[in-house]
Amino acid sequence: MALRSKILGCGSYLPENCVTNGELAKTVDTSDDWIVARTGIKQRHLAQEGELTSDLARKAALKAIEHAGIDIQEIDLIILGTTTPDNTFPSTATKVQAQLGLTHGFAMDVQAVCSGFMYALATADNFLKAGQGKTALVIGAETFSRLLDWEDRTTCVLFGDGAGAVILRAEESDESVGILSTHLHSDGRHQDILIVDGGPSLTQTTGHVRMAGKEVFRHAVVNLAEVVKEALEANGLSSDDIDWIVPHQANKRILDGTAKKLKISADKVVVTVDKHANTSAASIPLALDAAVQDGRIKRGDLLILEAMGGGLTWGSALVRW
Ligand code: UT7
Repeated sequence: MALRSKILGCGSYLPENCVTNGELAKTVDTSDDWIVARTGIKQRHLAQEGELTSDLARKAALKAIEHAGIDIQEIDLIILGTTTPDNTFPSTATKVQAQLGLTHGFAMDVQAVCSGFMYALATADNFLKAGQGKTALVIGAETFSRLLDWEDRTTCVLFGDGAGAVILRAEESDESVGILSTHLHSDGRHQDILIVDGGPSLTQTTGHVRMAGKEVFRHAVVNLAEVVKEALEANGLSSDDIDWIVPHQANKRILDGTAKKLKISADKVVVTVDKHANTSAASIPLALDAAVQDGRIKRGDLLILEAMGGGLTWGSALVRW
């Protein structure tokens, strides 16, 4: 018998305001052709003024709670991956905790940019396996649009806003179900290739995203393929065993390149980057929820979740759904 985190359910939320590439091209020096050819992105959802990361997070969480069929009061811990918190402090997780009417347990944010959901999931999984709580709400939520320089066409066309969530439950089981492993990495030597040029200590401003796109791209394909191989080896499995890759959605070319390196067929990759763009920590739970809701992902399927982001940070989770 082993104590494992089983995923009881998932949910997601996108702001109503959907902006196509064509609409963006009216105010930014870009084109639908360029964005689709280089990234696969066709549209993104953007939060309206006053619509906060905590609002998106709460809406995704409520859907996950409903899908899991649990009572809100059963939640012992909330781990929220975000780089766009409502405030510098308190954490967005404690705001969501209050909005859900929870006063027991604990809540905290995890900041690993586009790897935020992988870090949040691994953190919650390890708390549950250590016996510090039985039920966890794990959220990836971003209003990344608030970090964008809308005059920098090399970054502003790439990102969107949204949130996704899962409910984990610690269960003793003989079967190999739920989160089978998580693997996290970071290498701060490469921090300058994907960075926000402000912050409370550095500039006392929020700052804007700056990215050396080509370099980030190169690191992504190599690191993502390696961290997936690491997960498979740790579990005595091969890429043939994978039913679905649920990747961080940065660029369709990165998704294709990683799948090719792993010799996994492109039709096993869950793709939402065309509809959501890059929603940073929210992109994996958004993609997961889309594929669960439309029936592609079924109970018993083997999933590999993987992401890379600023830091650099990267990681994977192998999950038996
Ligand atoms: O989630 C975290 C991880 N983030 C990523 O993984 C992103 C990784 N990087 C990428 O996805 C790609 O590098 C980009 C999509 C950001 C850029 O694609 P690229 O094929 O590397 O293009 P590039 O940066 O080399 O730019 C090619 C050309 C340049 O023009 P010149 O210098 O060749 O004349 C750019 O100025 O495209 C131009 N360009 C644009 N043109 C129209 C750059 N952005 C745009 C734009 N619209 N939005």
